[in-house]
Amino acid sequence: MAAKRPAQARSALDSDGAVVIVCRGGDCGSRRKHPTVDHATQLAFIRIAVGDAADVLVSKCLDACEHSNVIVVVPNAHDRDRGVEPVWVGEVNDPDVTDDLTGWVKSPTLWSTPPPTLVDIHTFIPTRRSRHELADPDTVPAARGTRHSRKRR
Ligand code: FES
Repeated sequence: MAAKRPAQARSALDSDGAVVIVCRGGDCGSRRKHPTVDHATQLAFIRIAVGDAADVLVSKCLDACEHSNVIVVVPNAHDRDRGVEPVWVGEVNDPDVTDDLTGWVKSPTLWSTPPPTLVDIHTFIPTRRSRHELADPDTVPAARGTRHSRKRR
């Protein structure tokens, strides 16, 4: 029998703020699959470059390995409530794409302007299974501030 998940386990999709999810499953982050990518440096760069604009979380496999390395930009709660969907970006395997992606995340007009060209050409539509993985706390643990983790005032 599978262990029960704690009642407080929440998805990254419950976060109040924007979230950047960097997949580091079996294919994303693999030196064998992507020998020219310095995955540790990429993740460190993303954390520093995004700063306070979003939480950066590391996921297990999002079931989109054919697009590795996968990064998903999840809007904050306000934008999600008005229907903005997460943006899935694939083949983030060079510094130029990574740089454009983090610059876009930091932009004050993030969801009101189209993503930069390099990000746009790397976006893809996730499968239903991939969307399910994104919402699964076992794949992507919640960020610190979630709608359900804060006390009501
Ligand atoms: S390892 Fe990233 S989608 Fe599978």
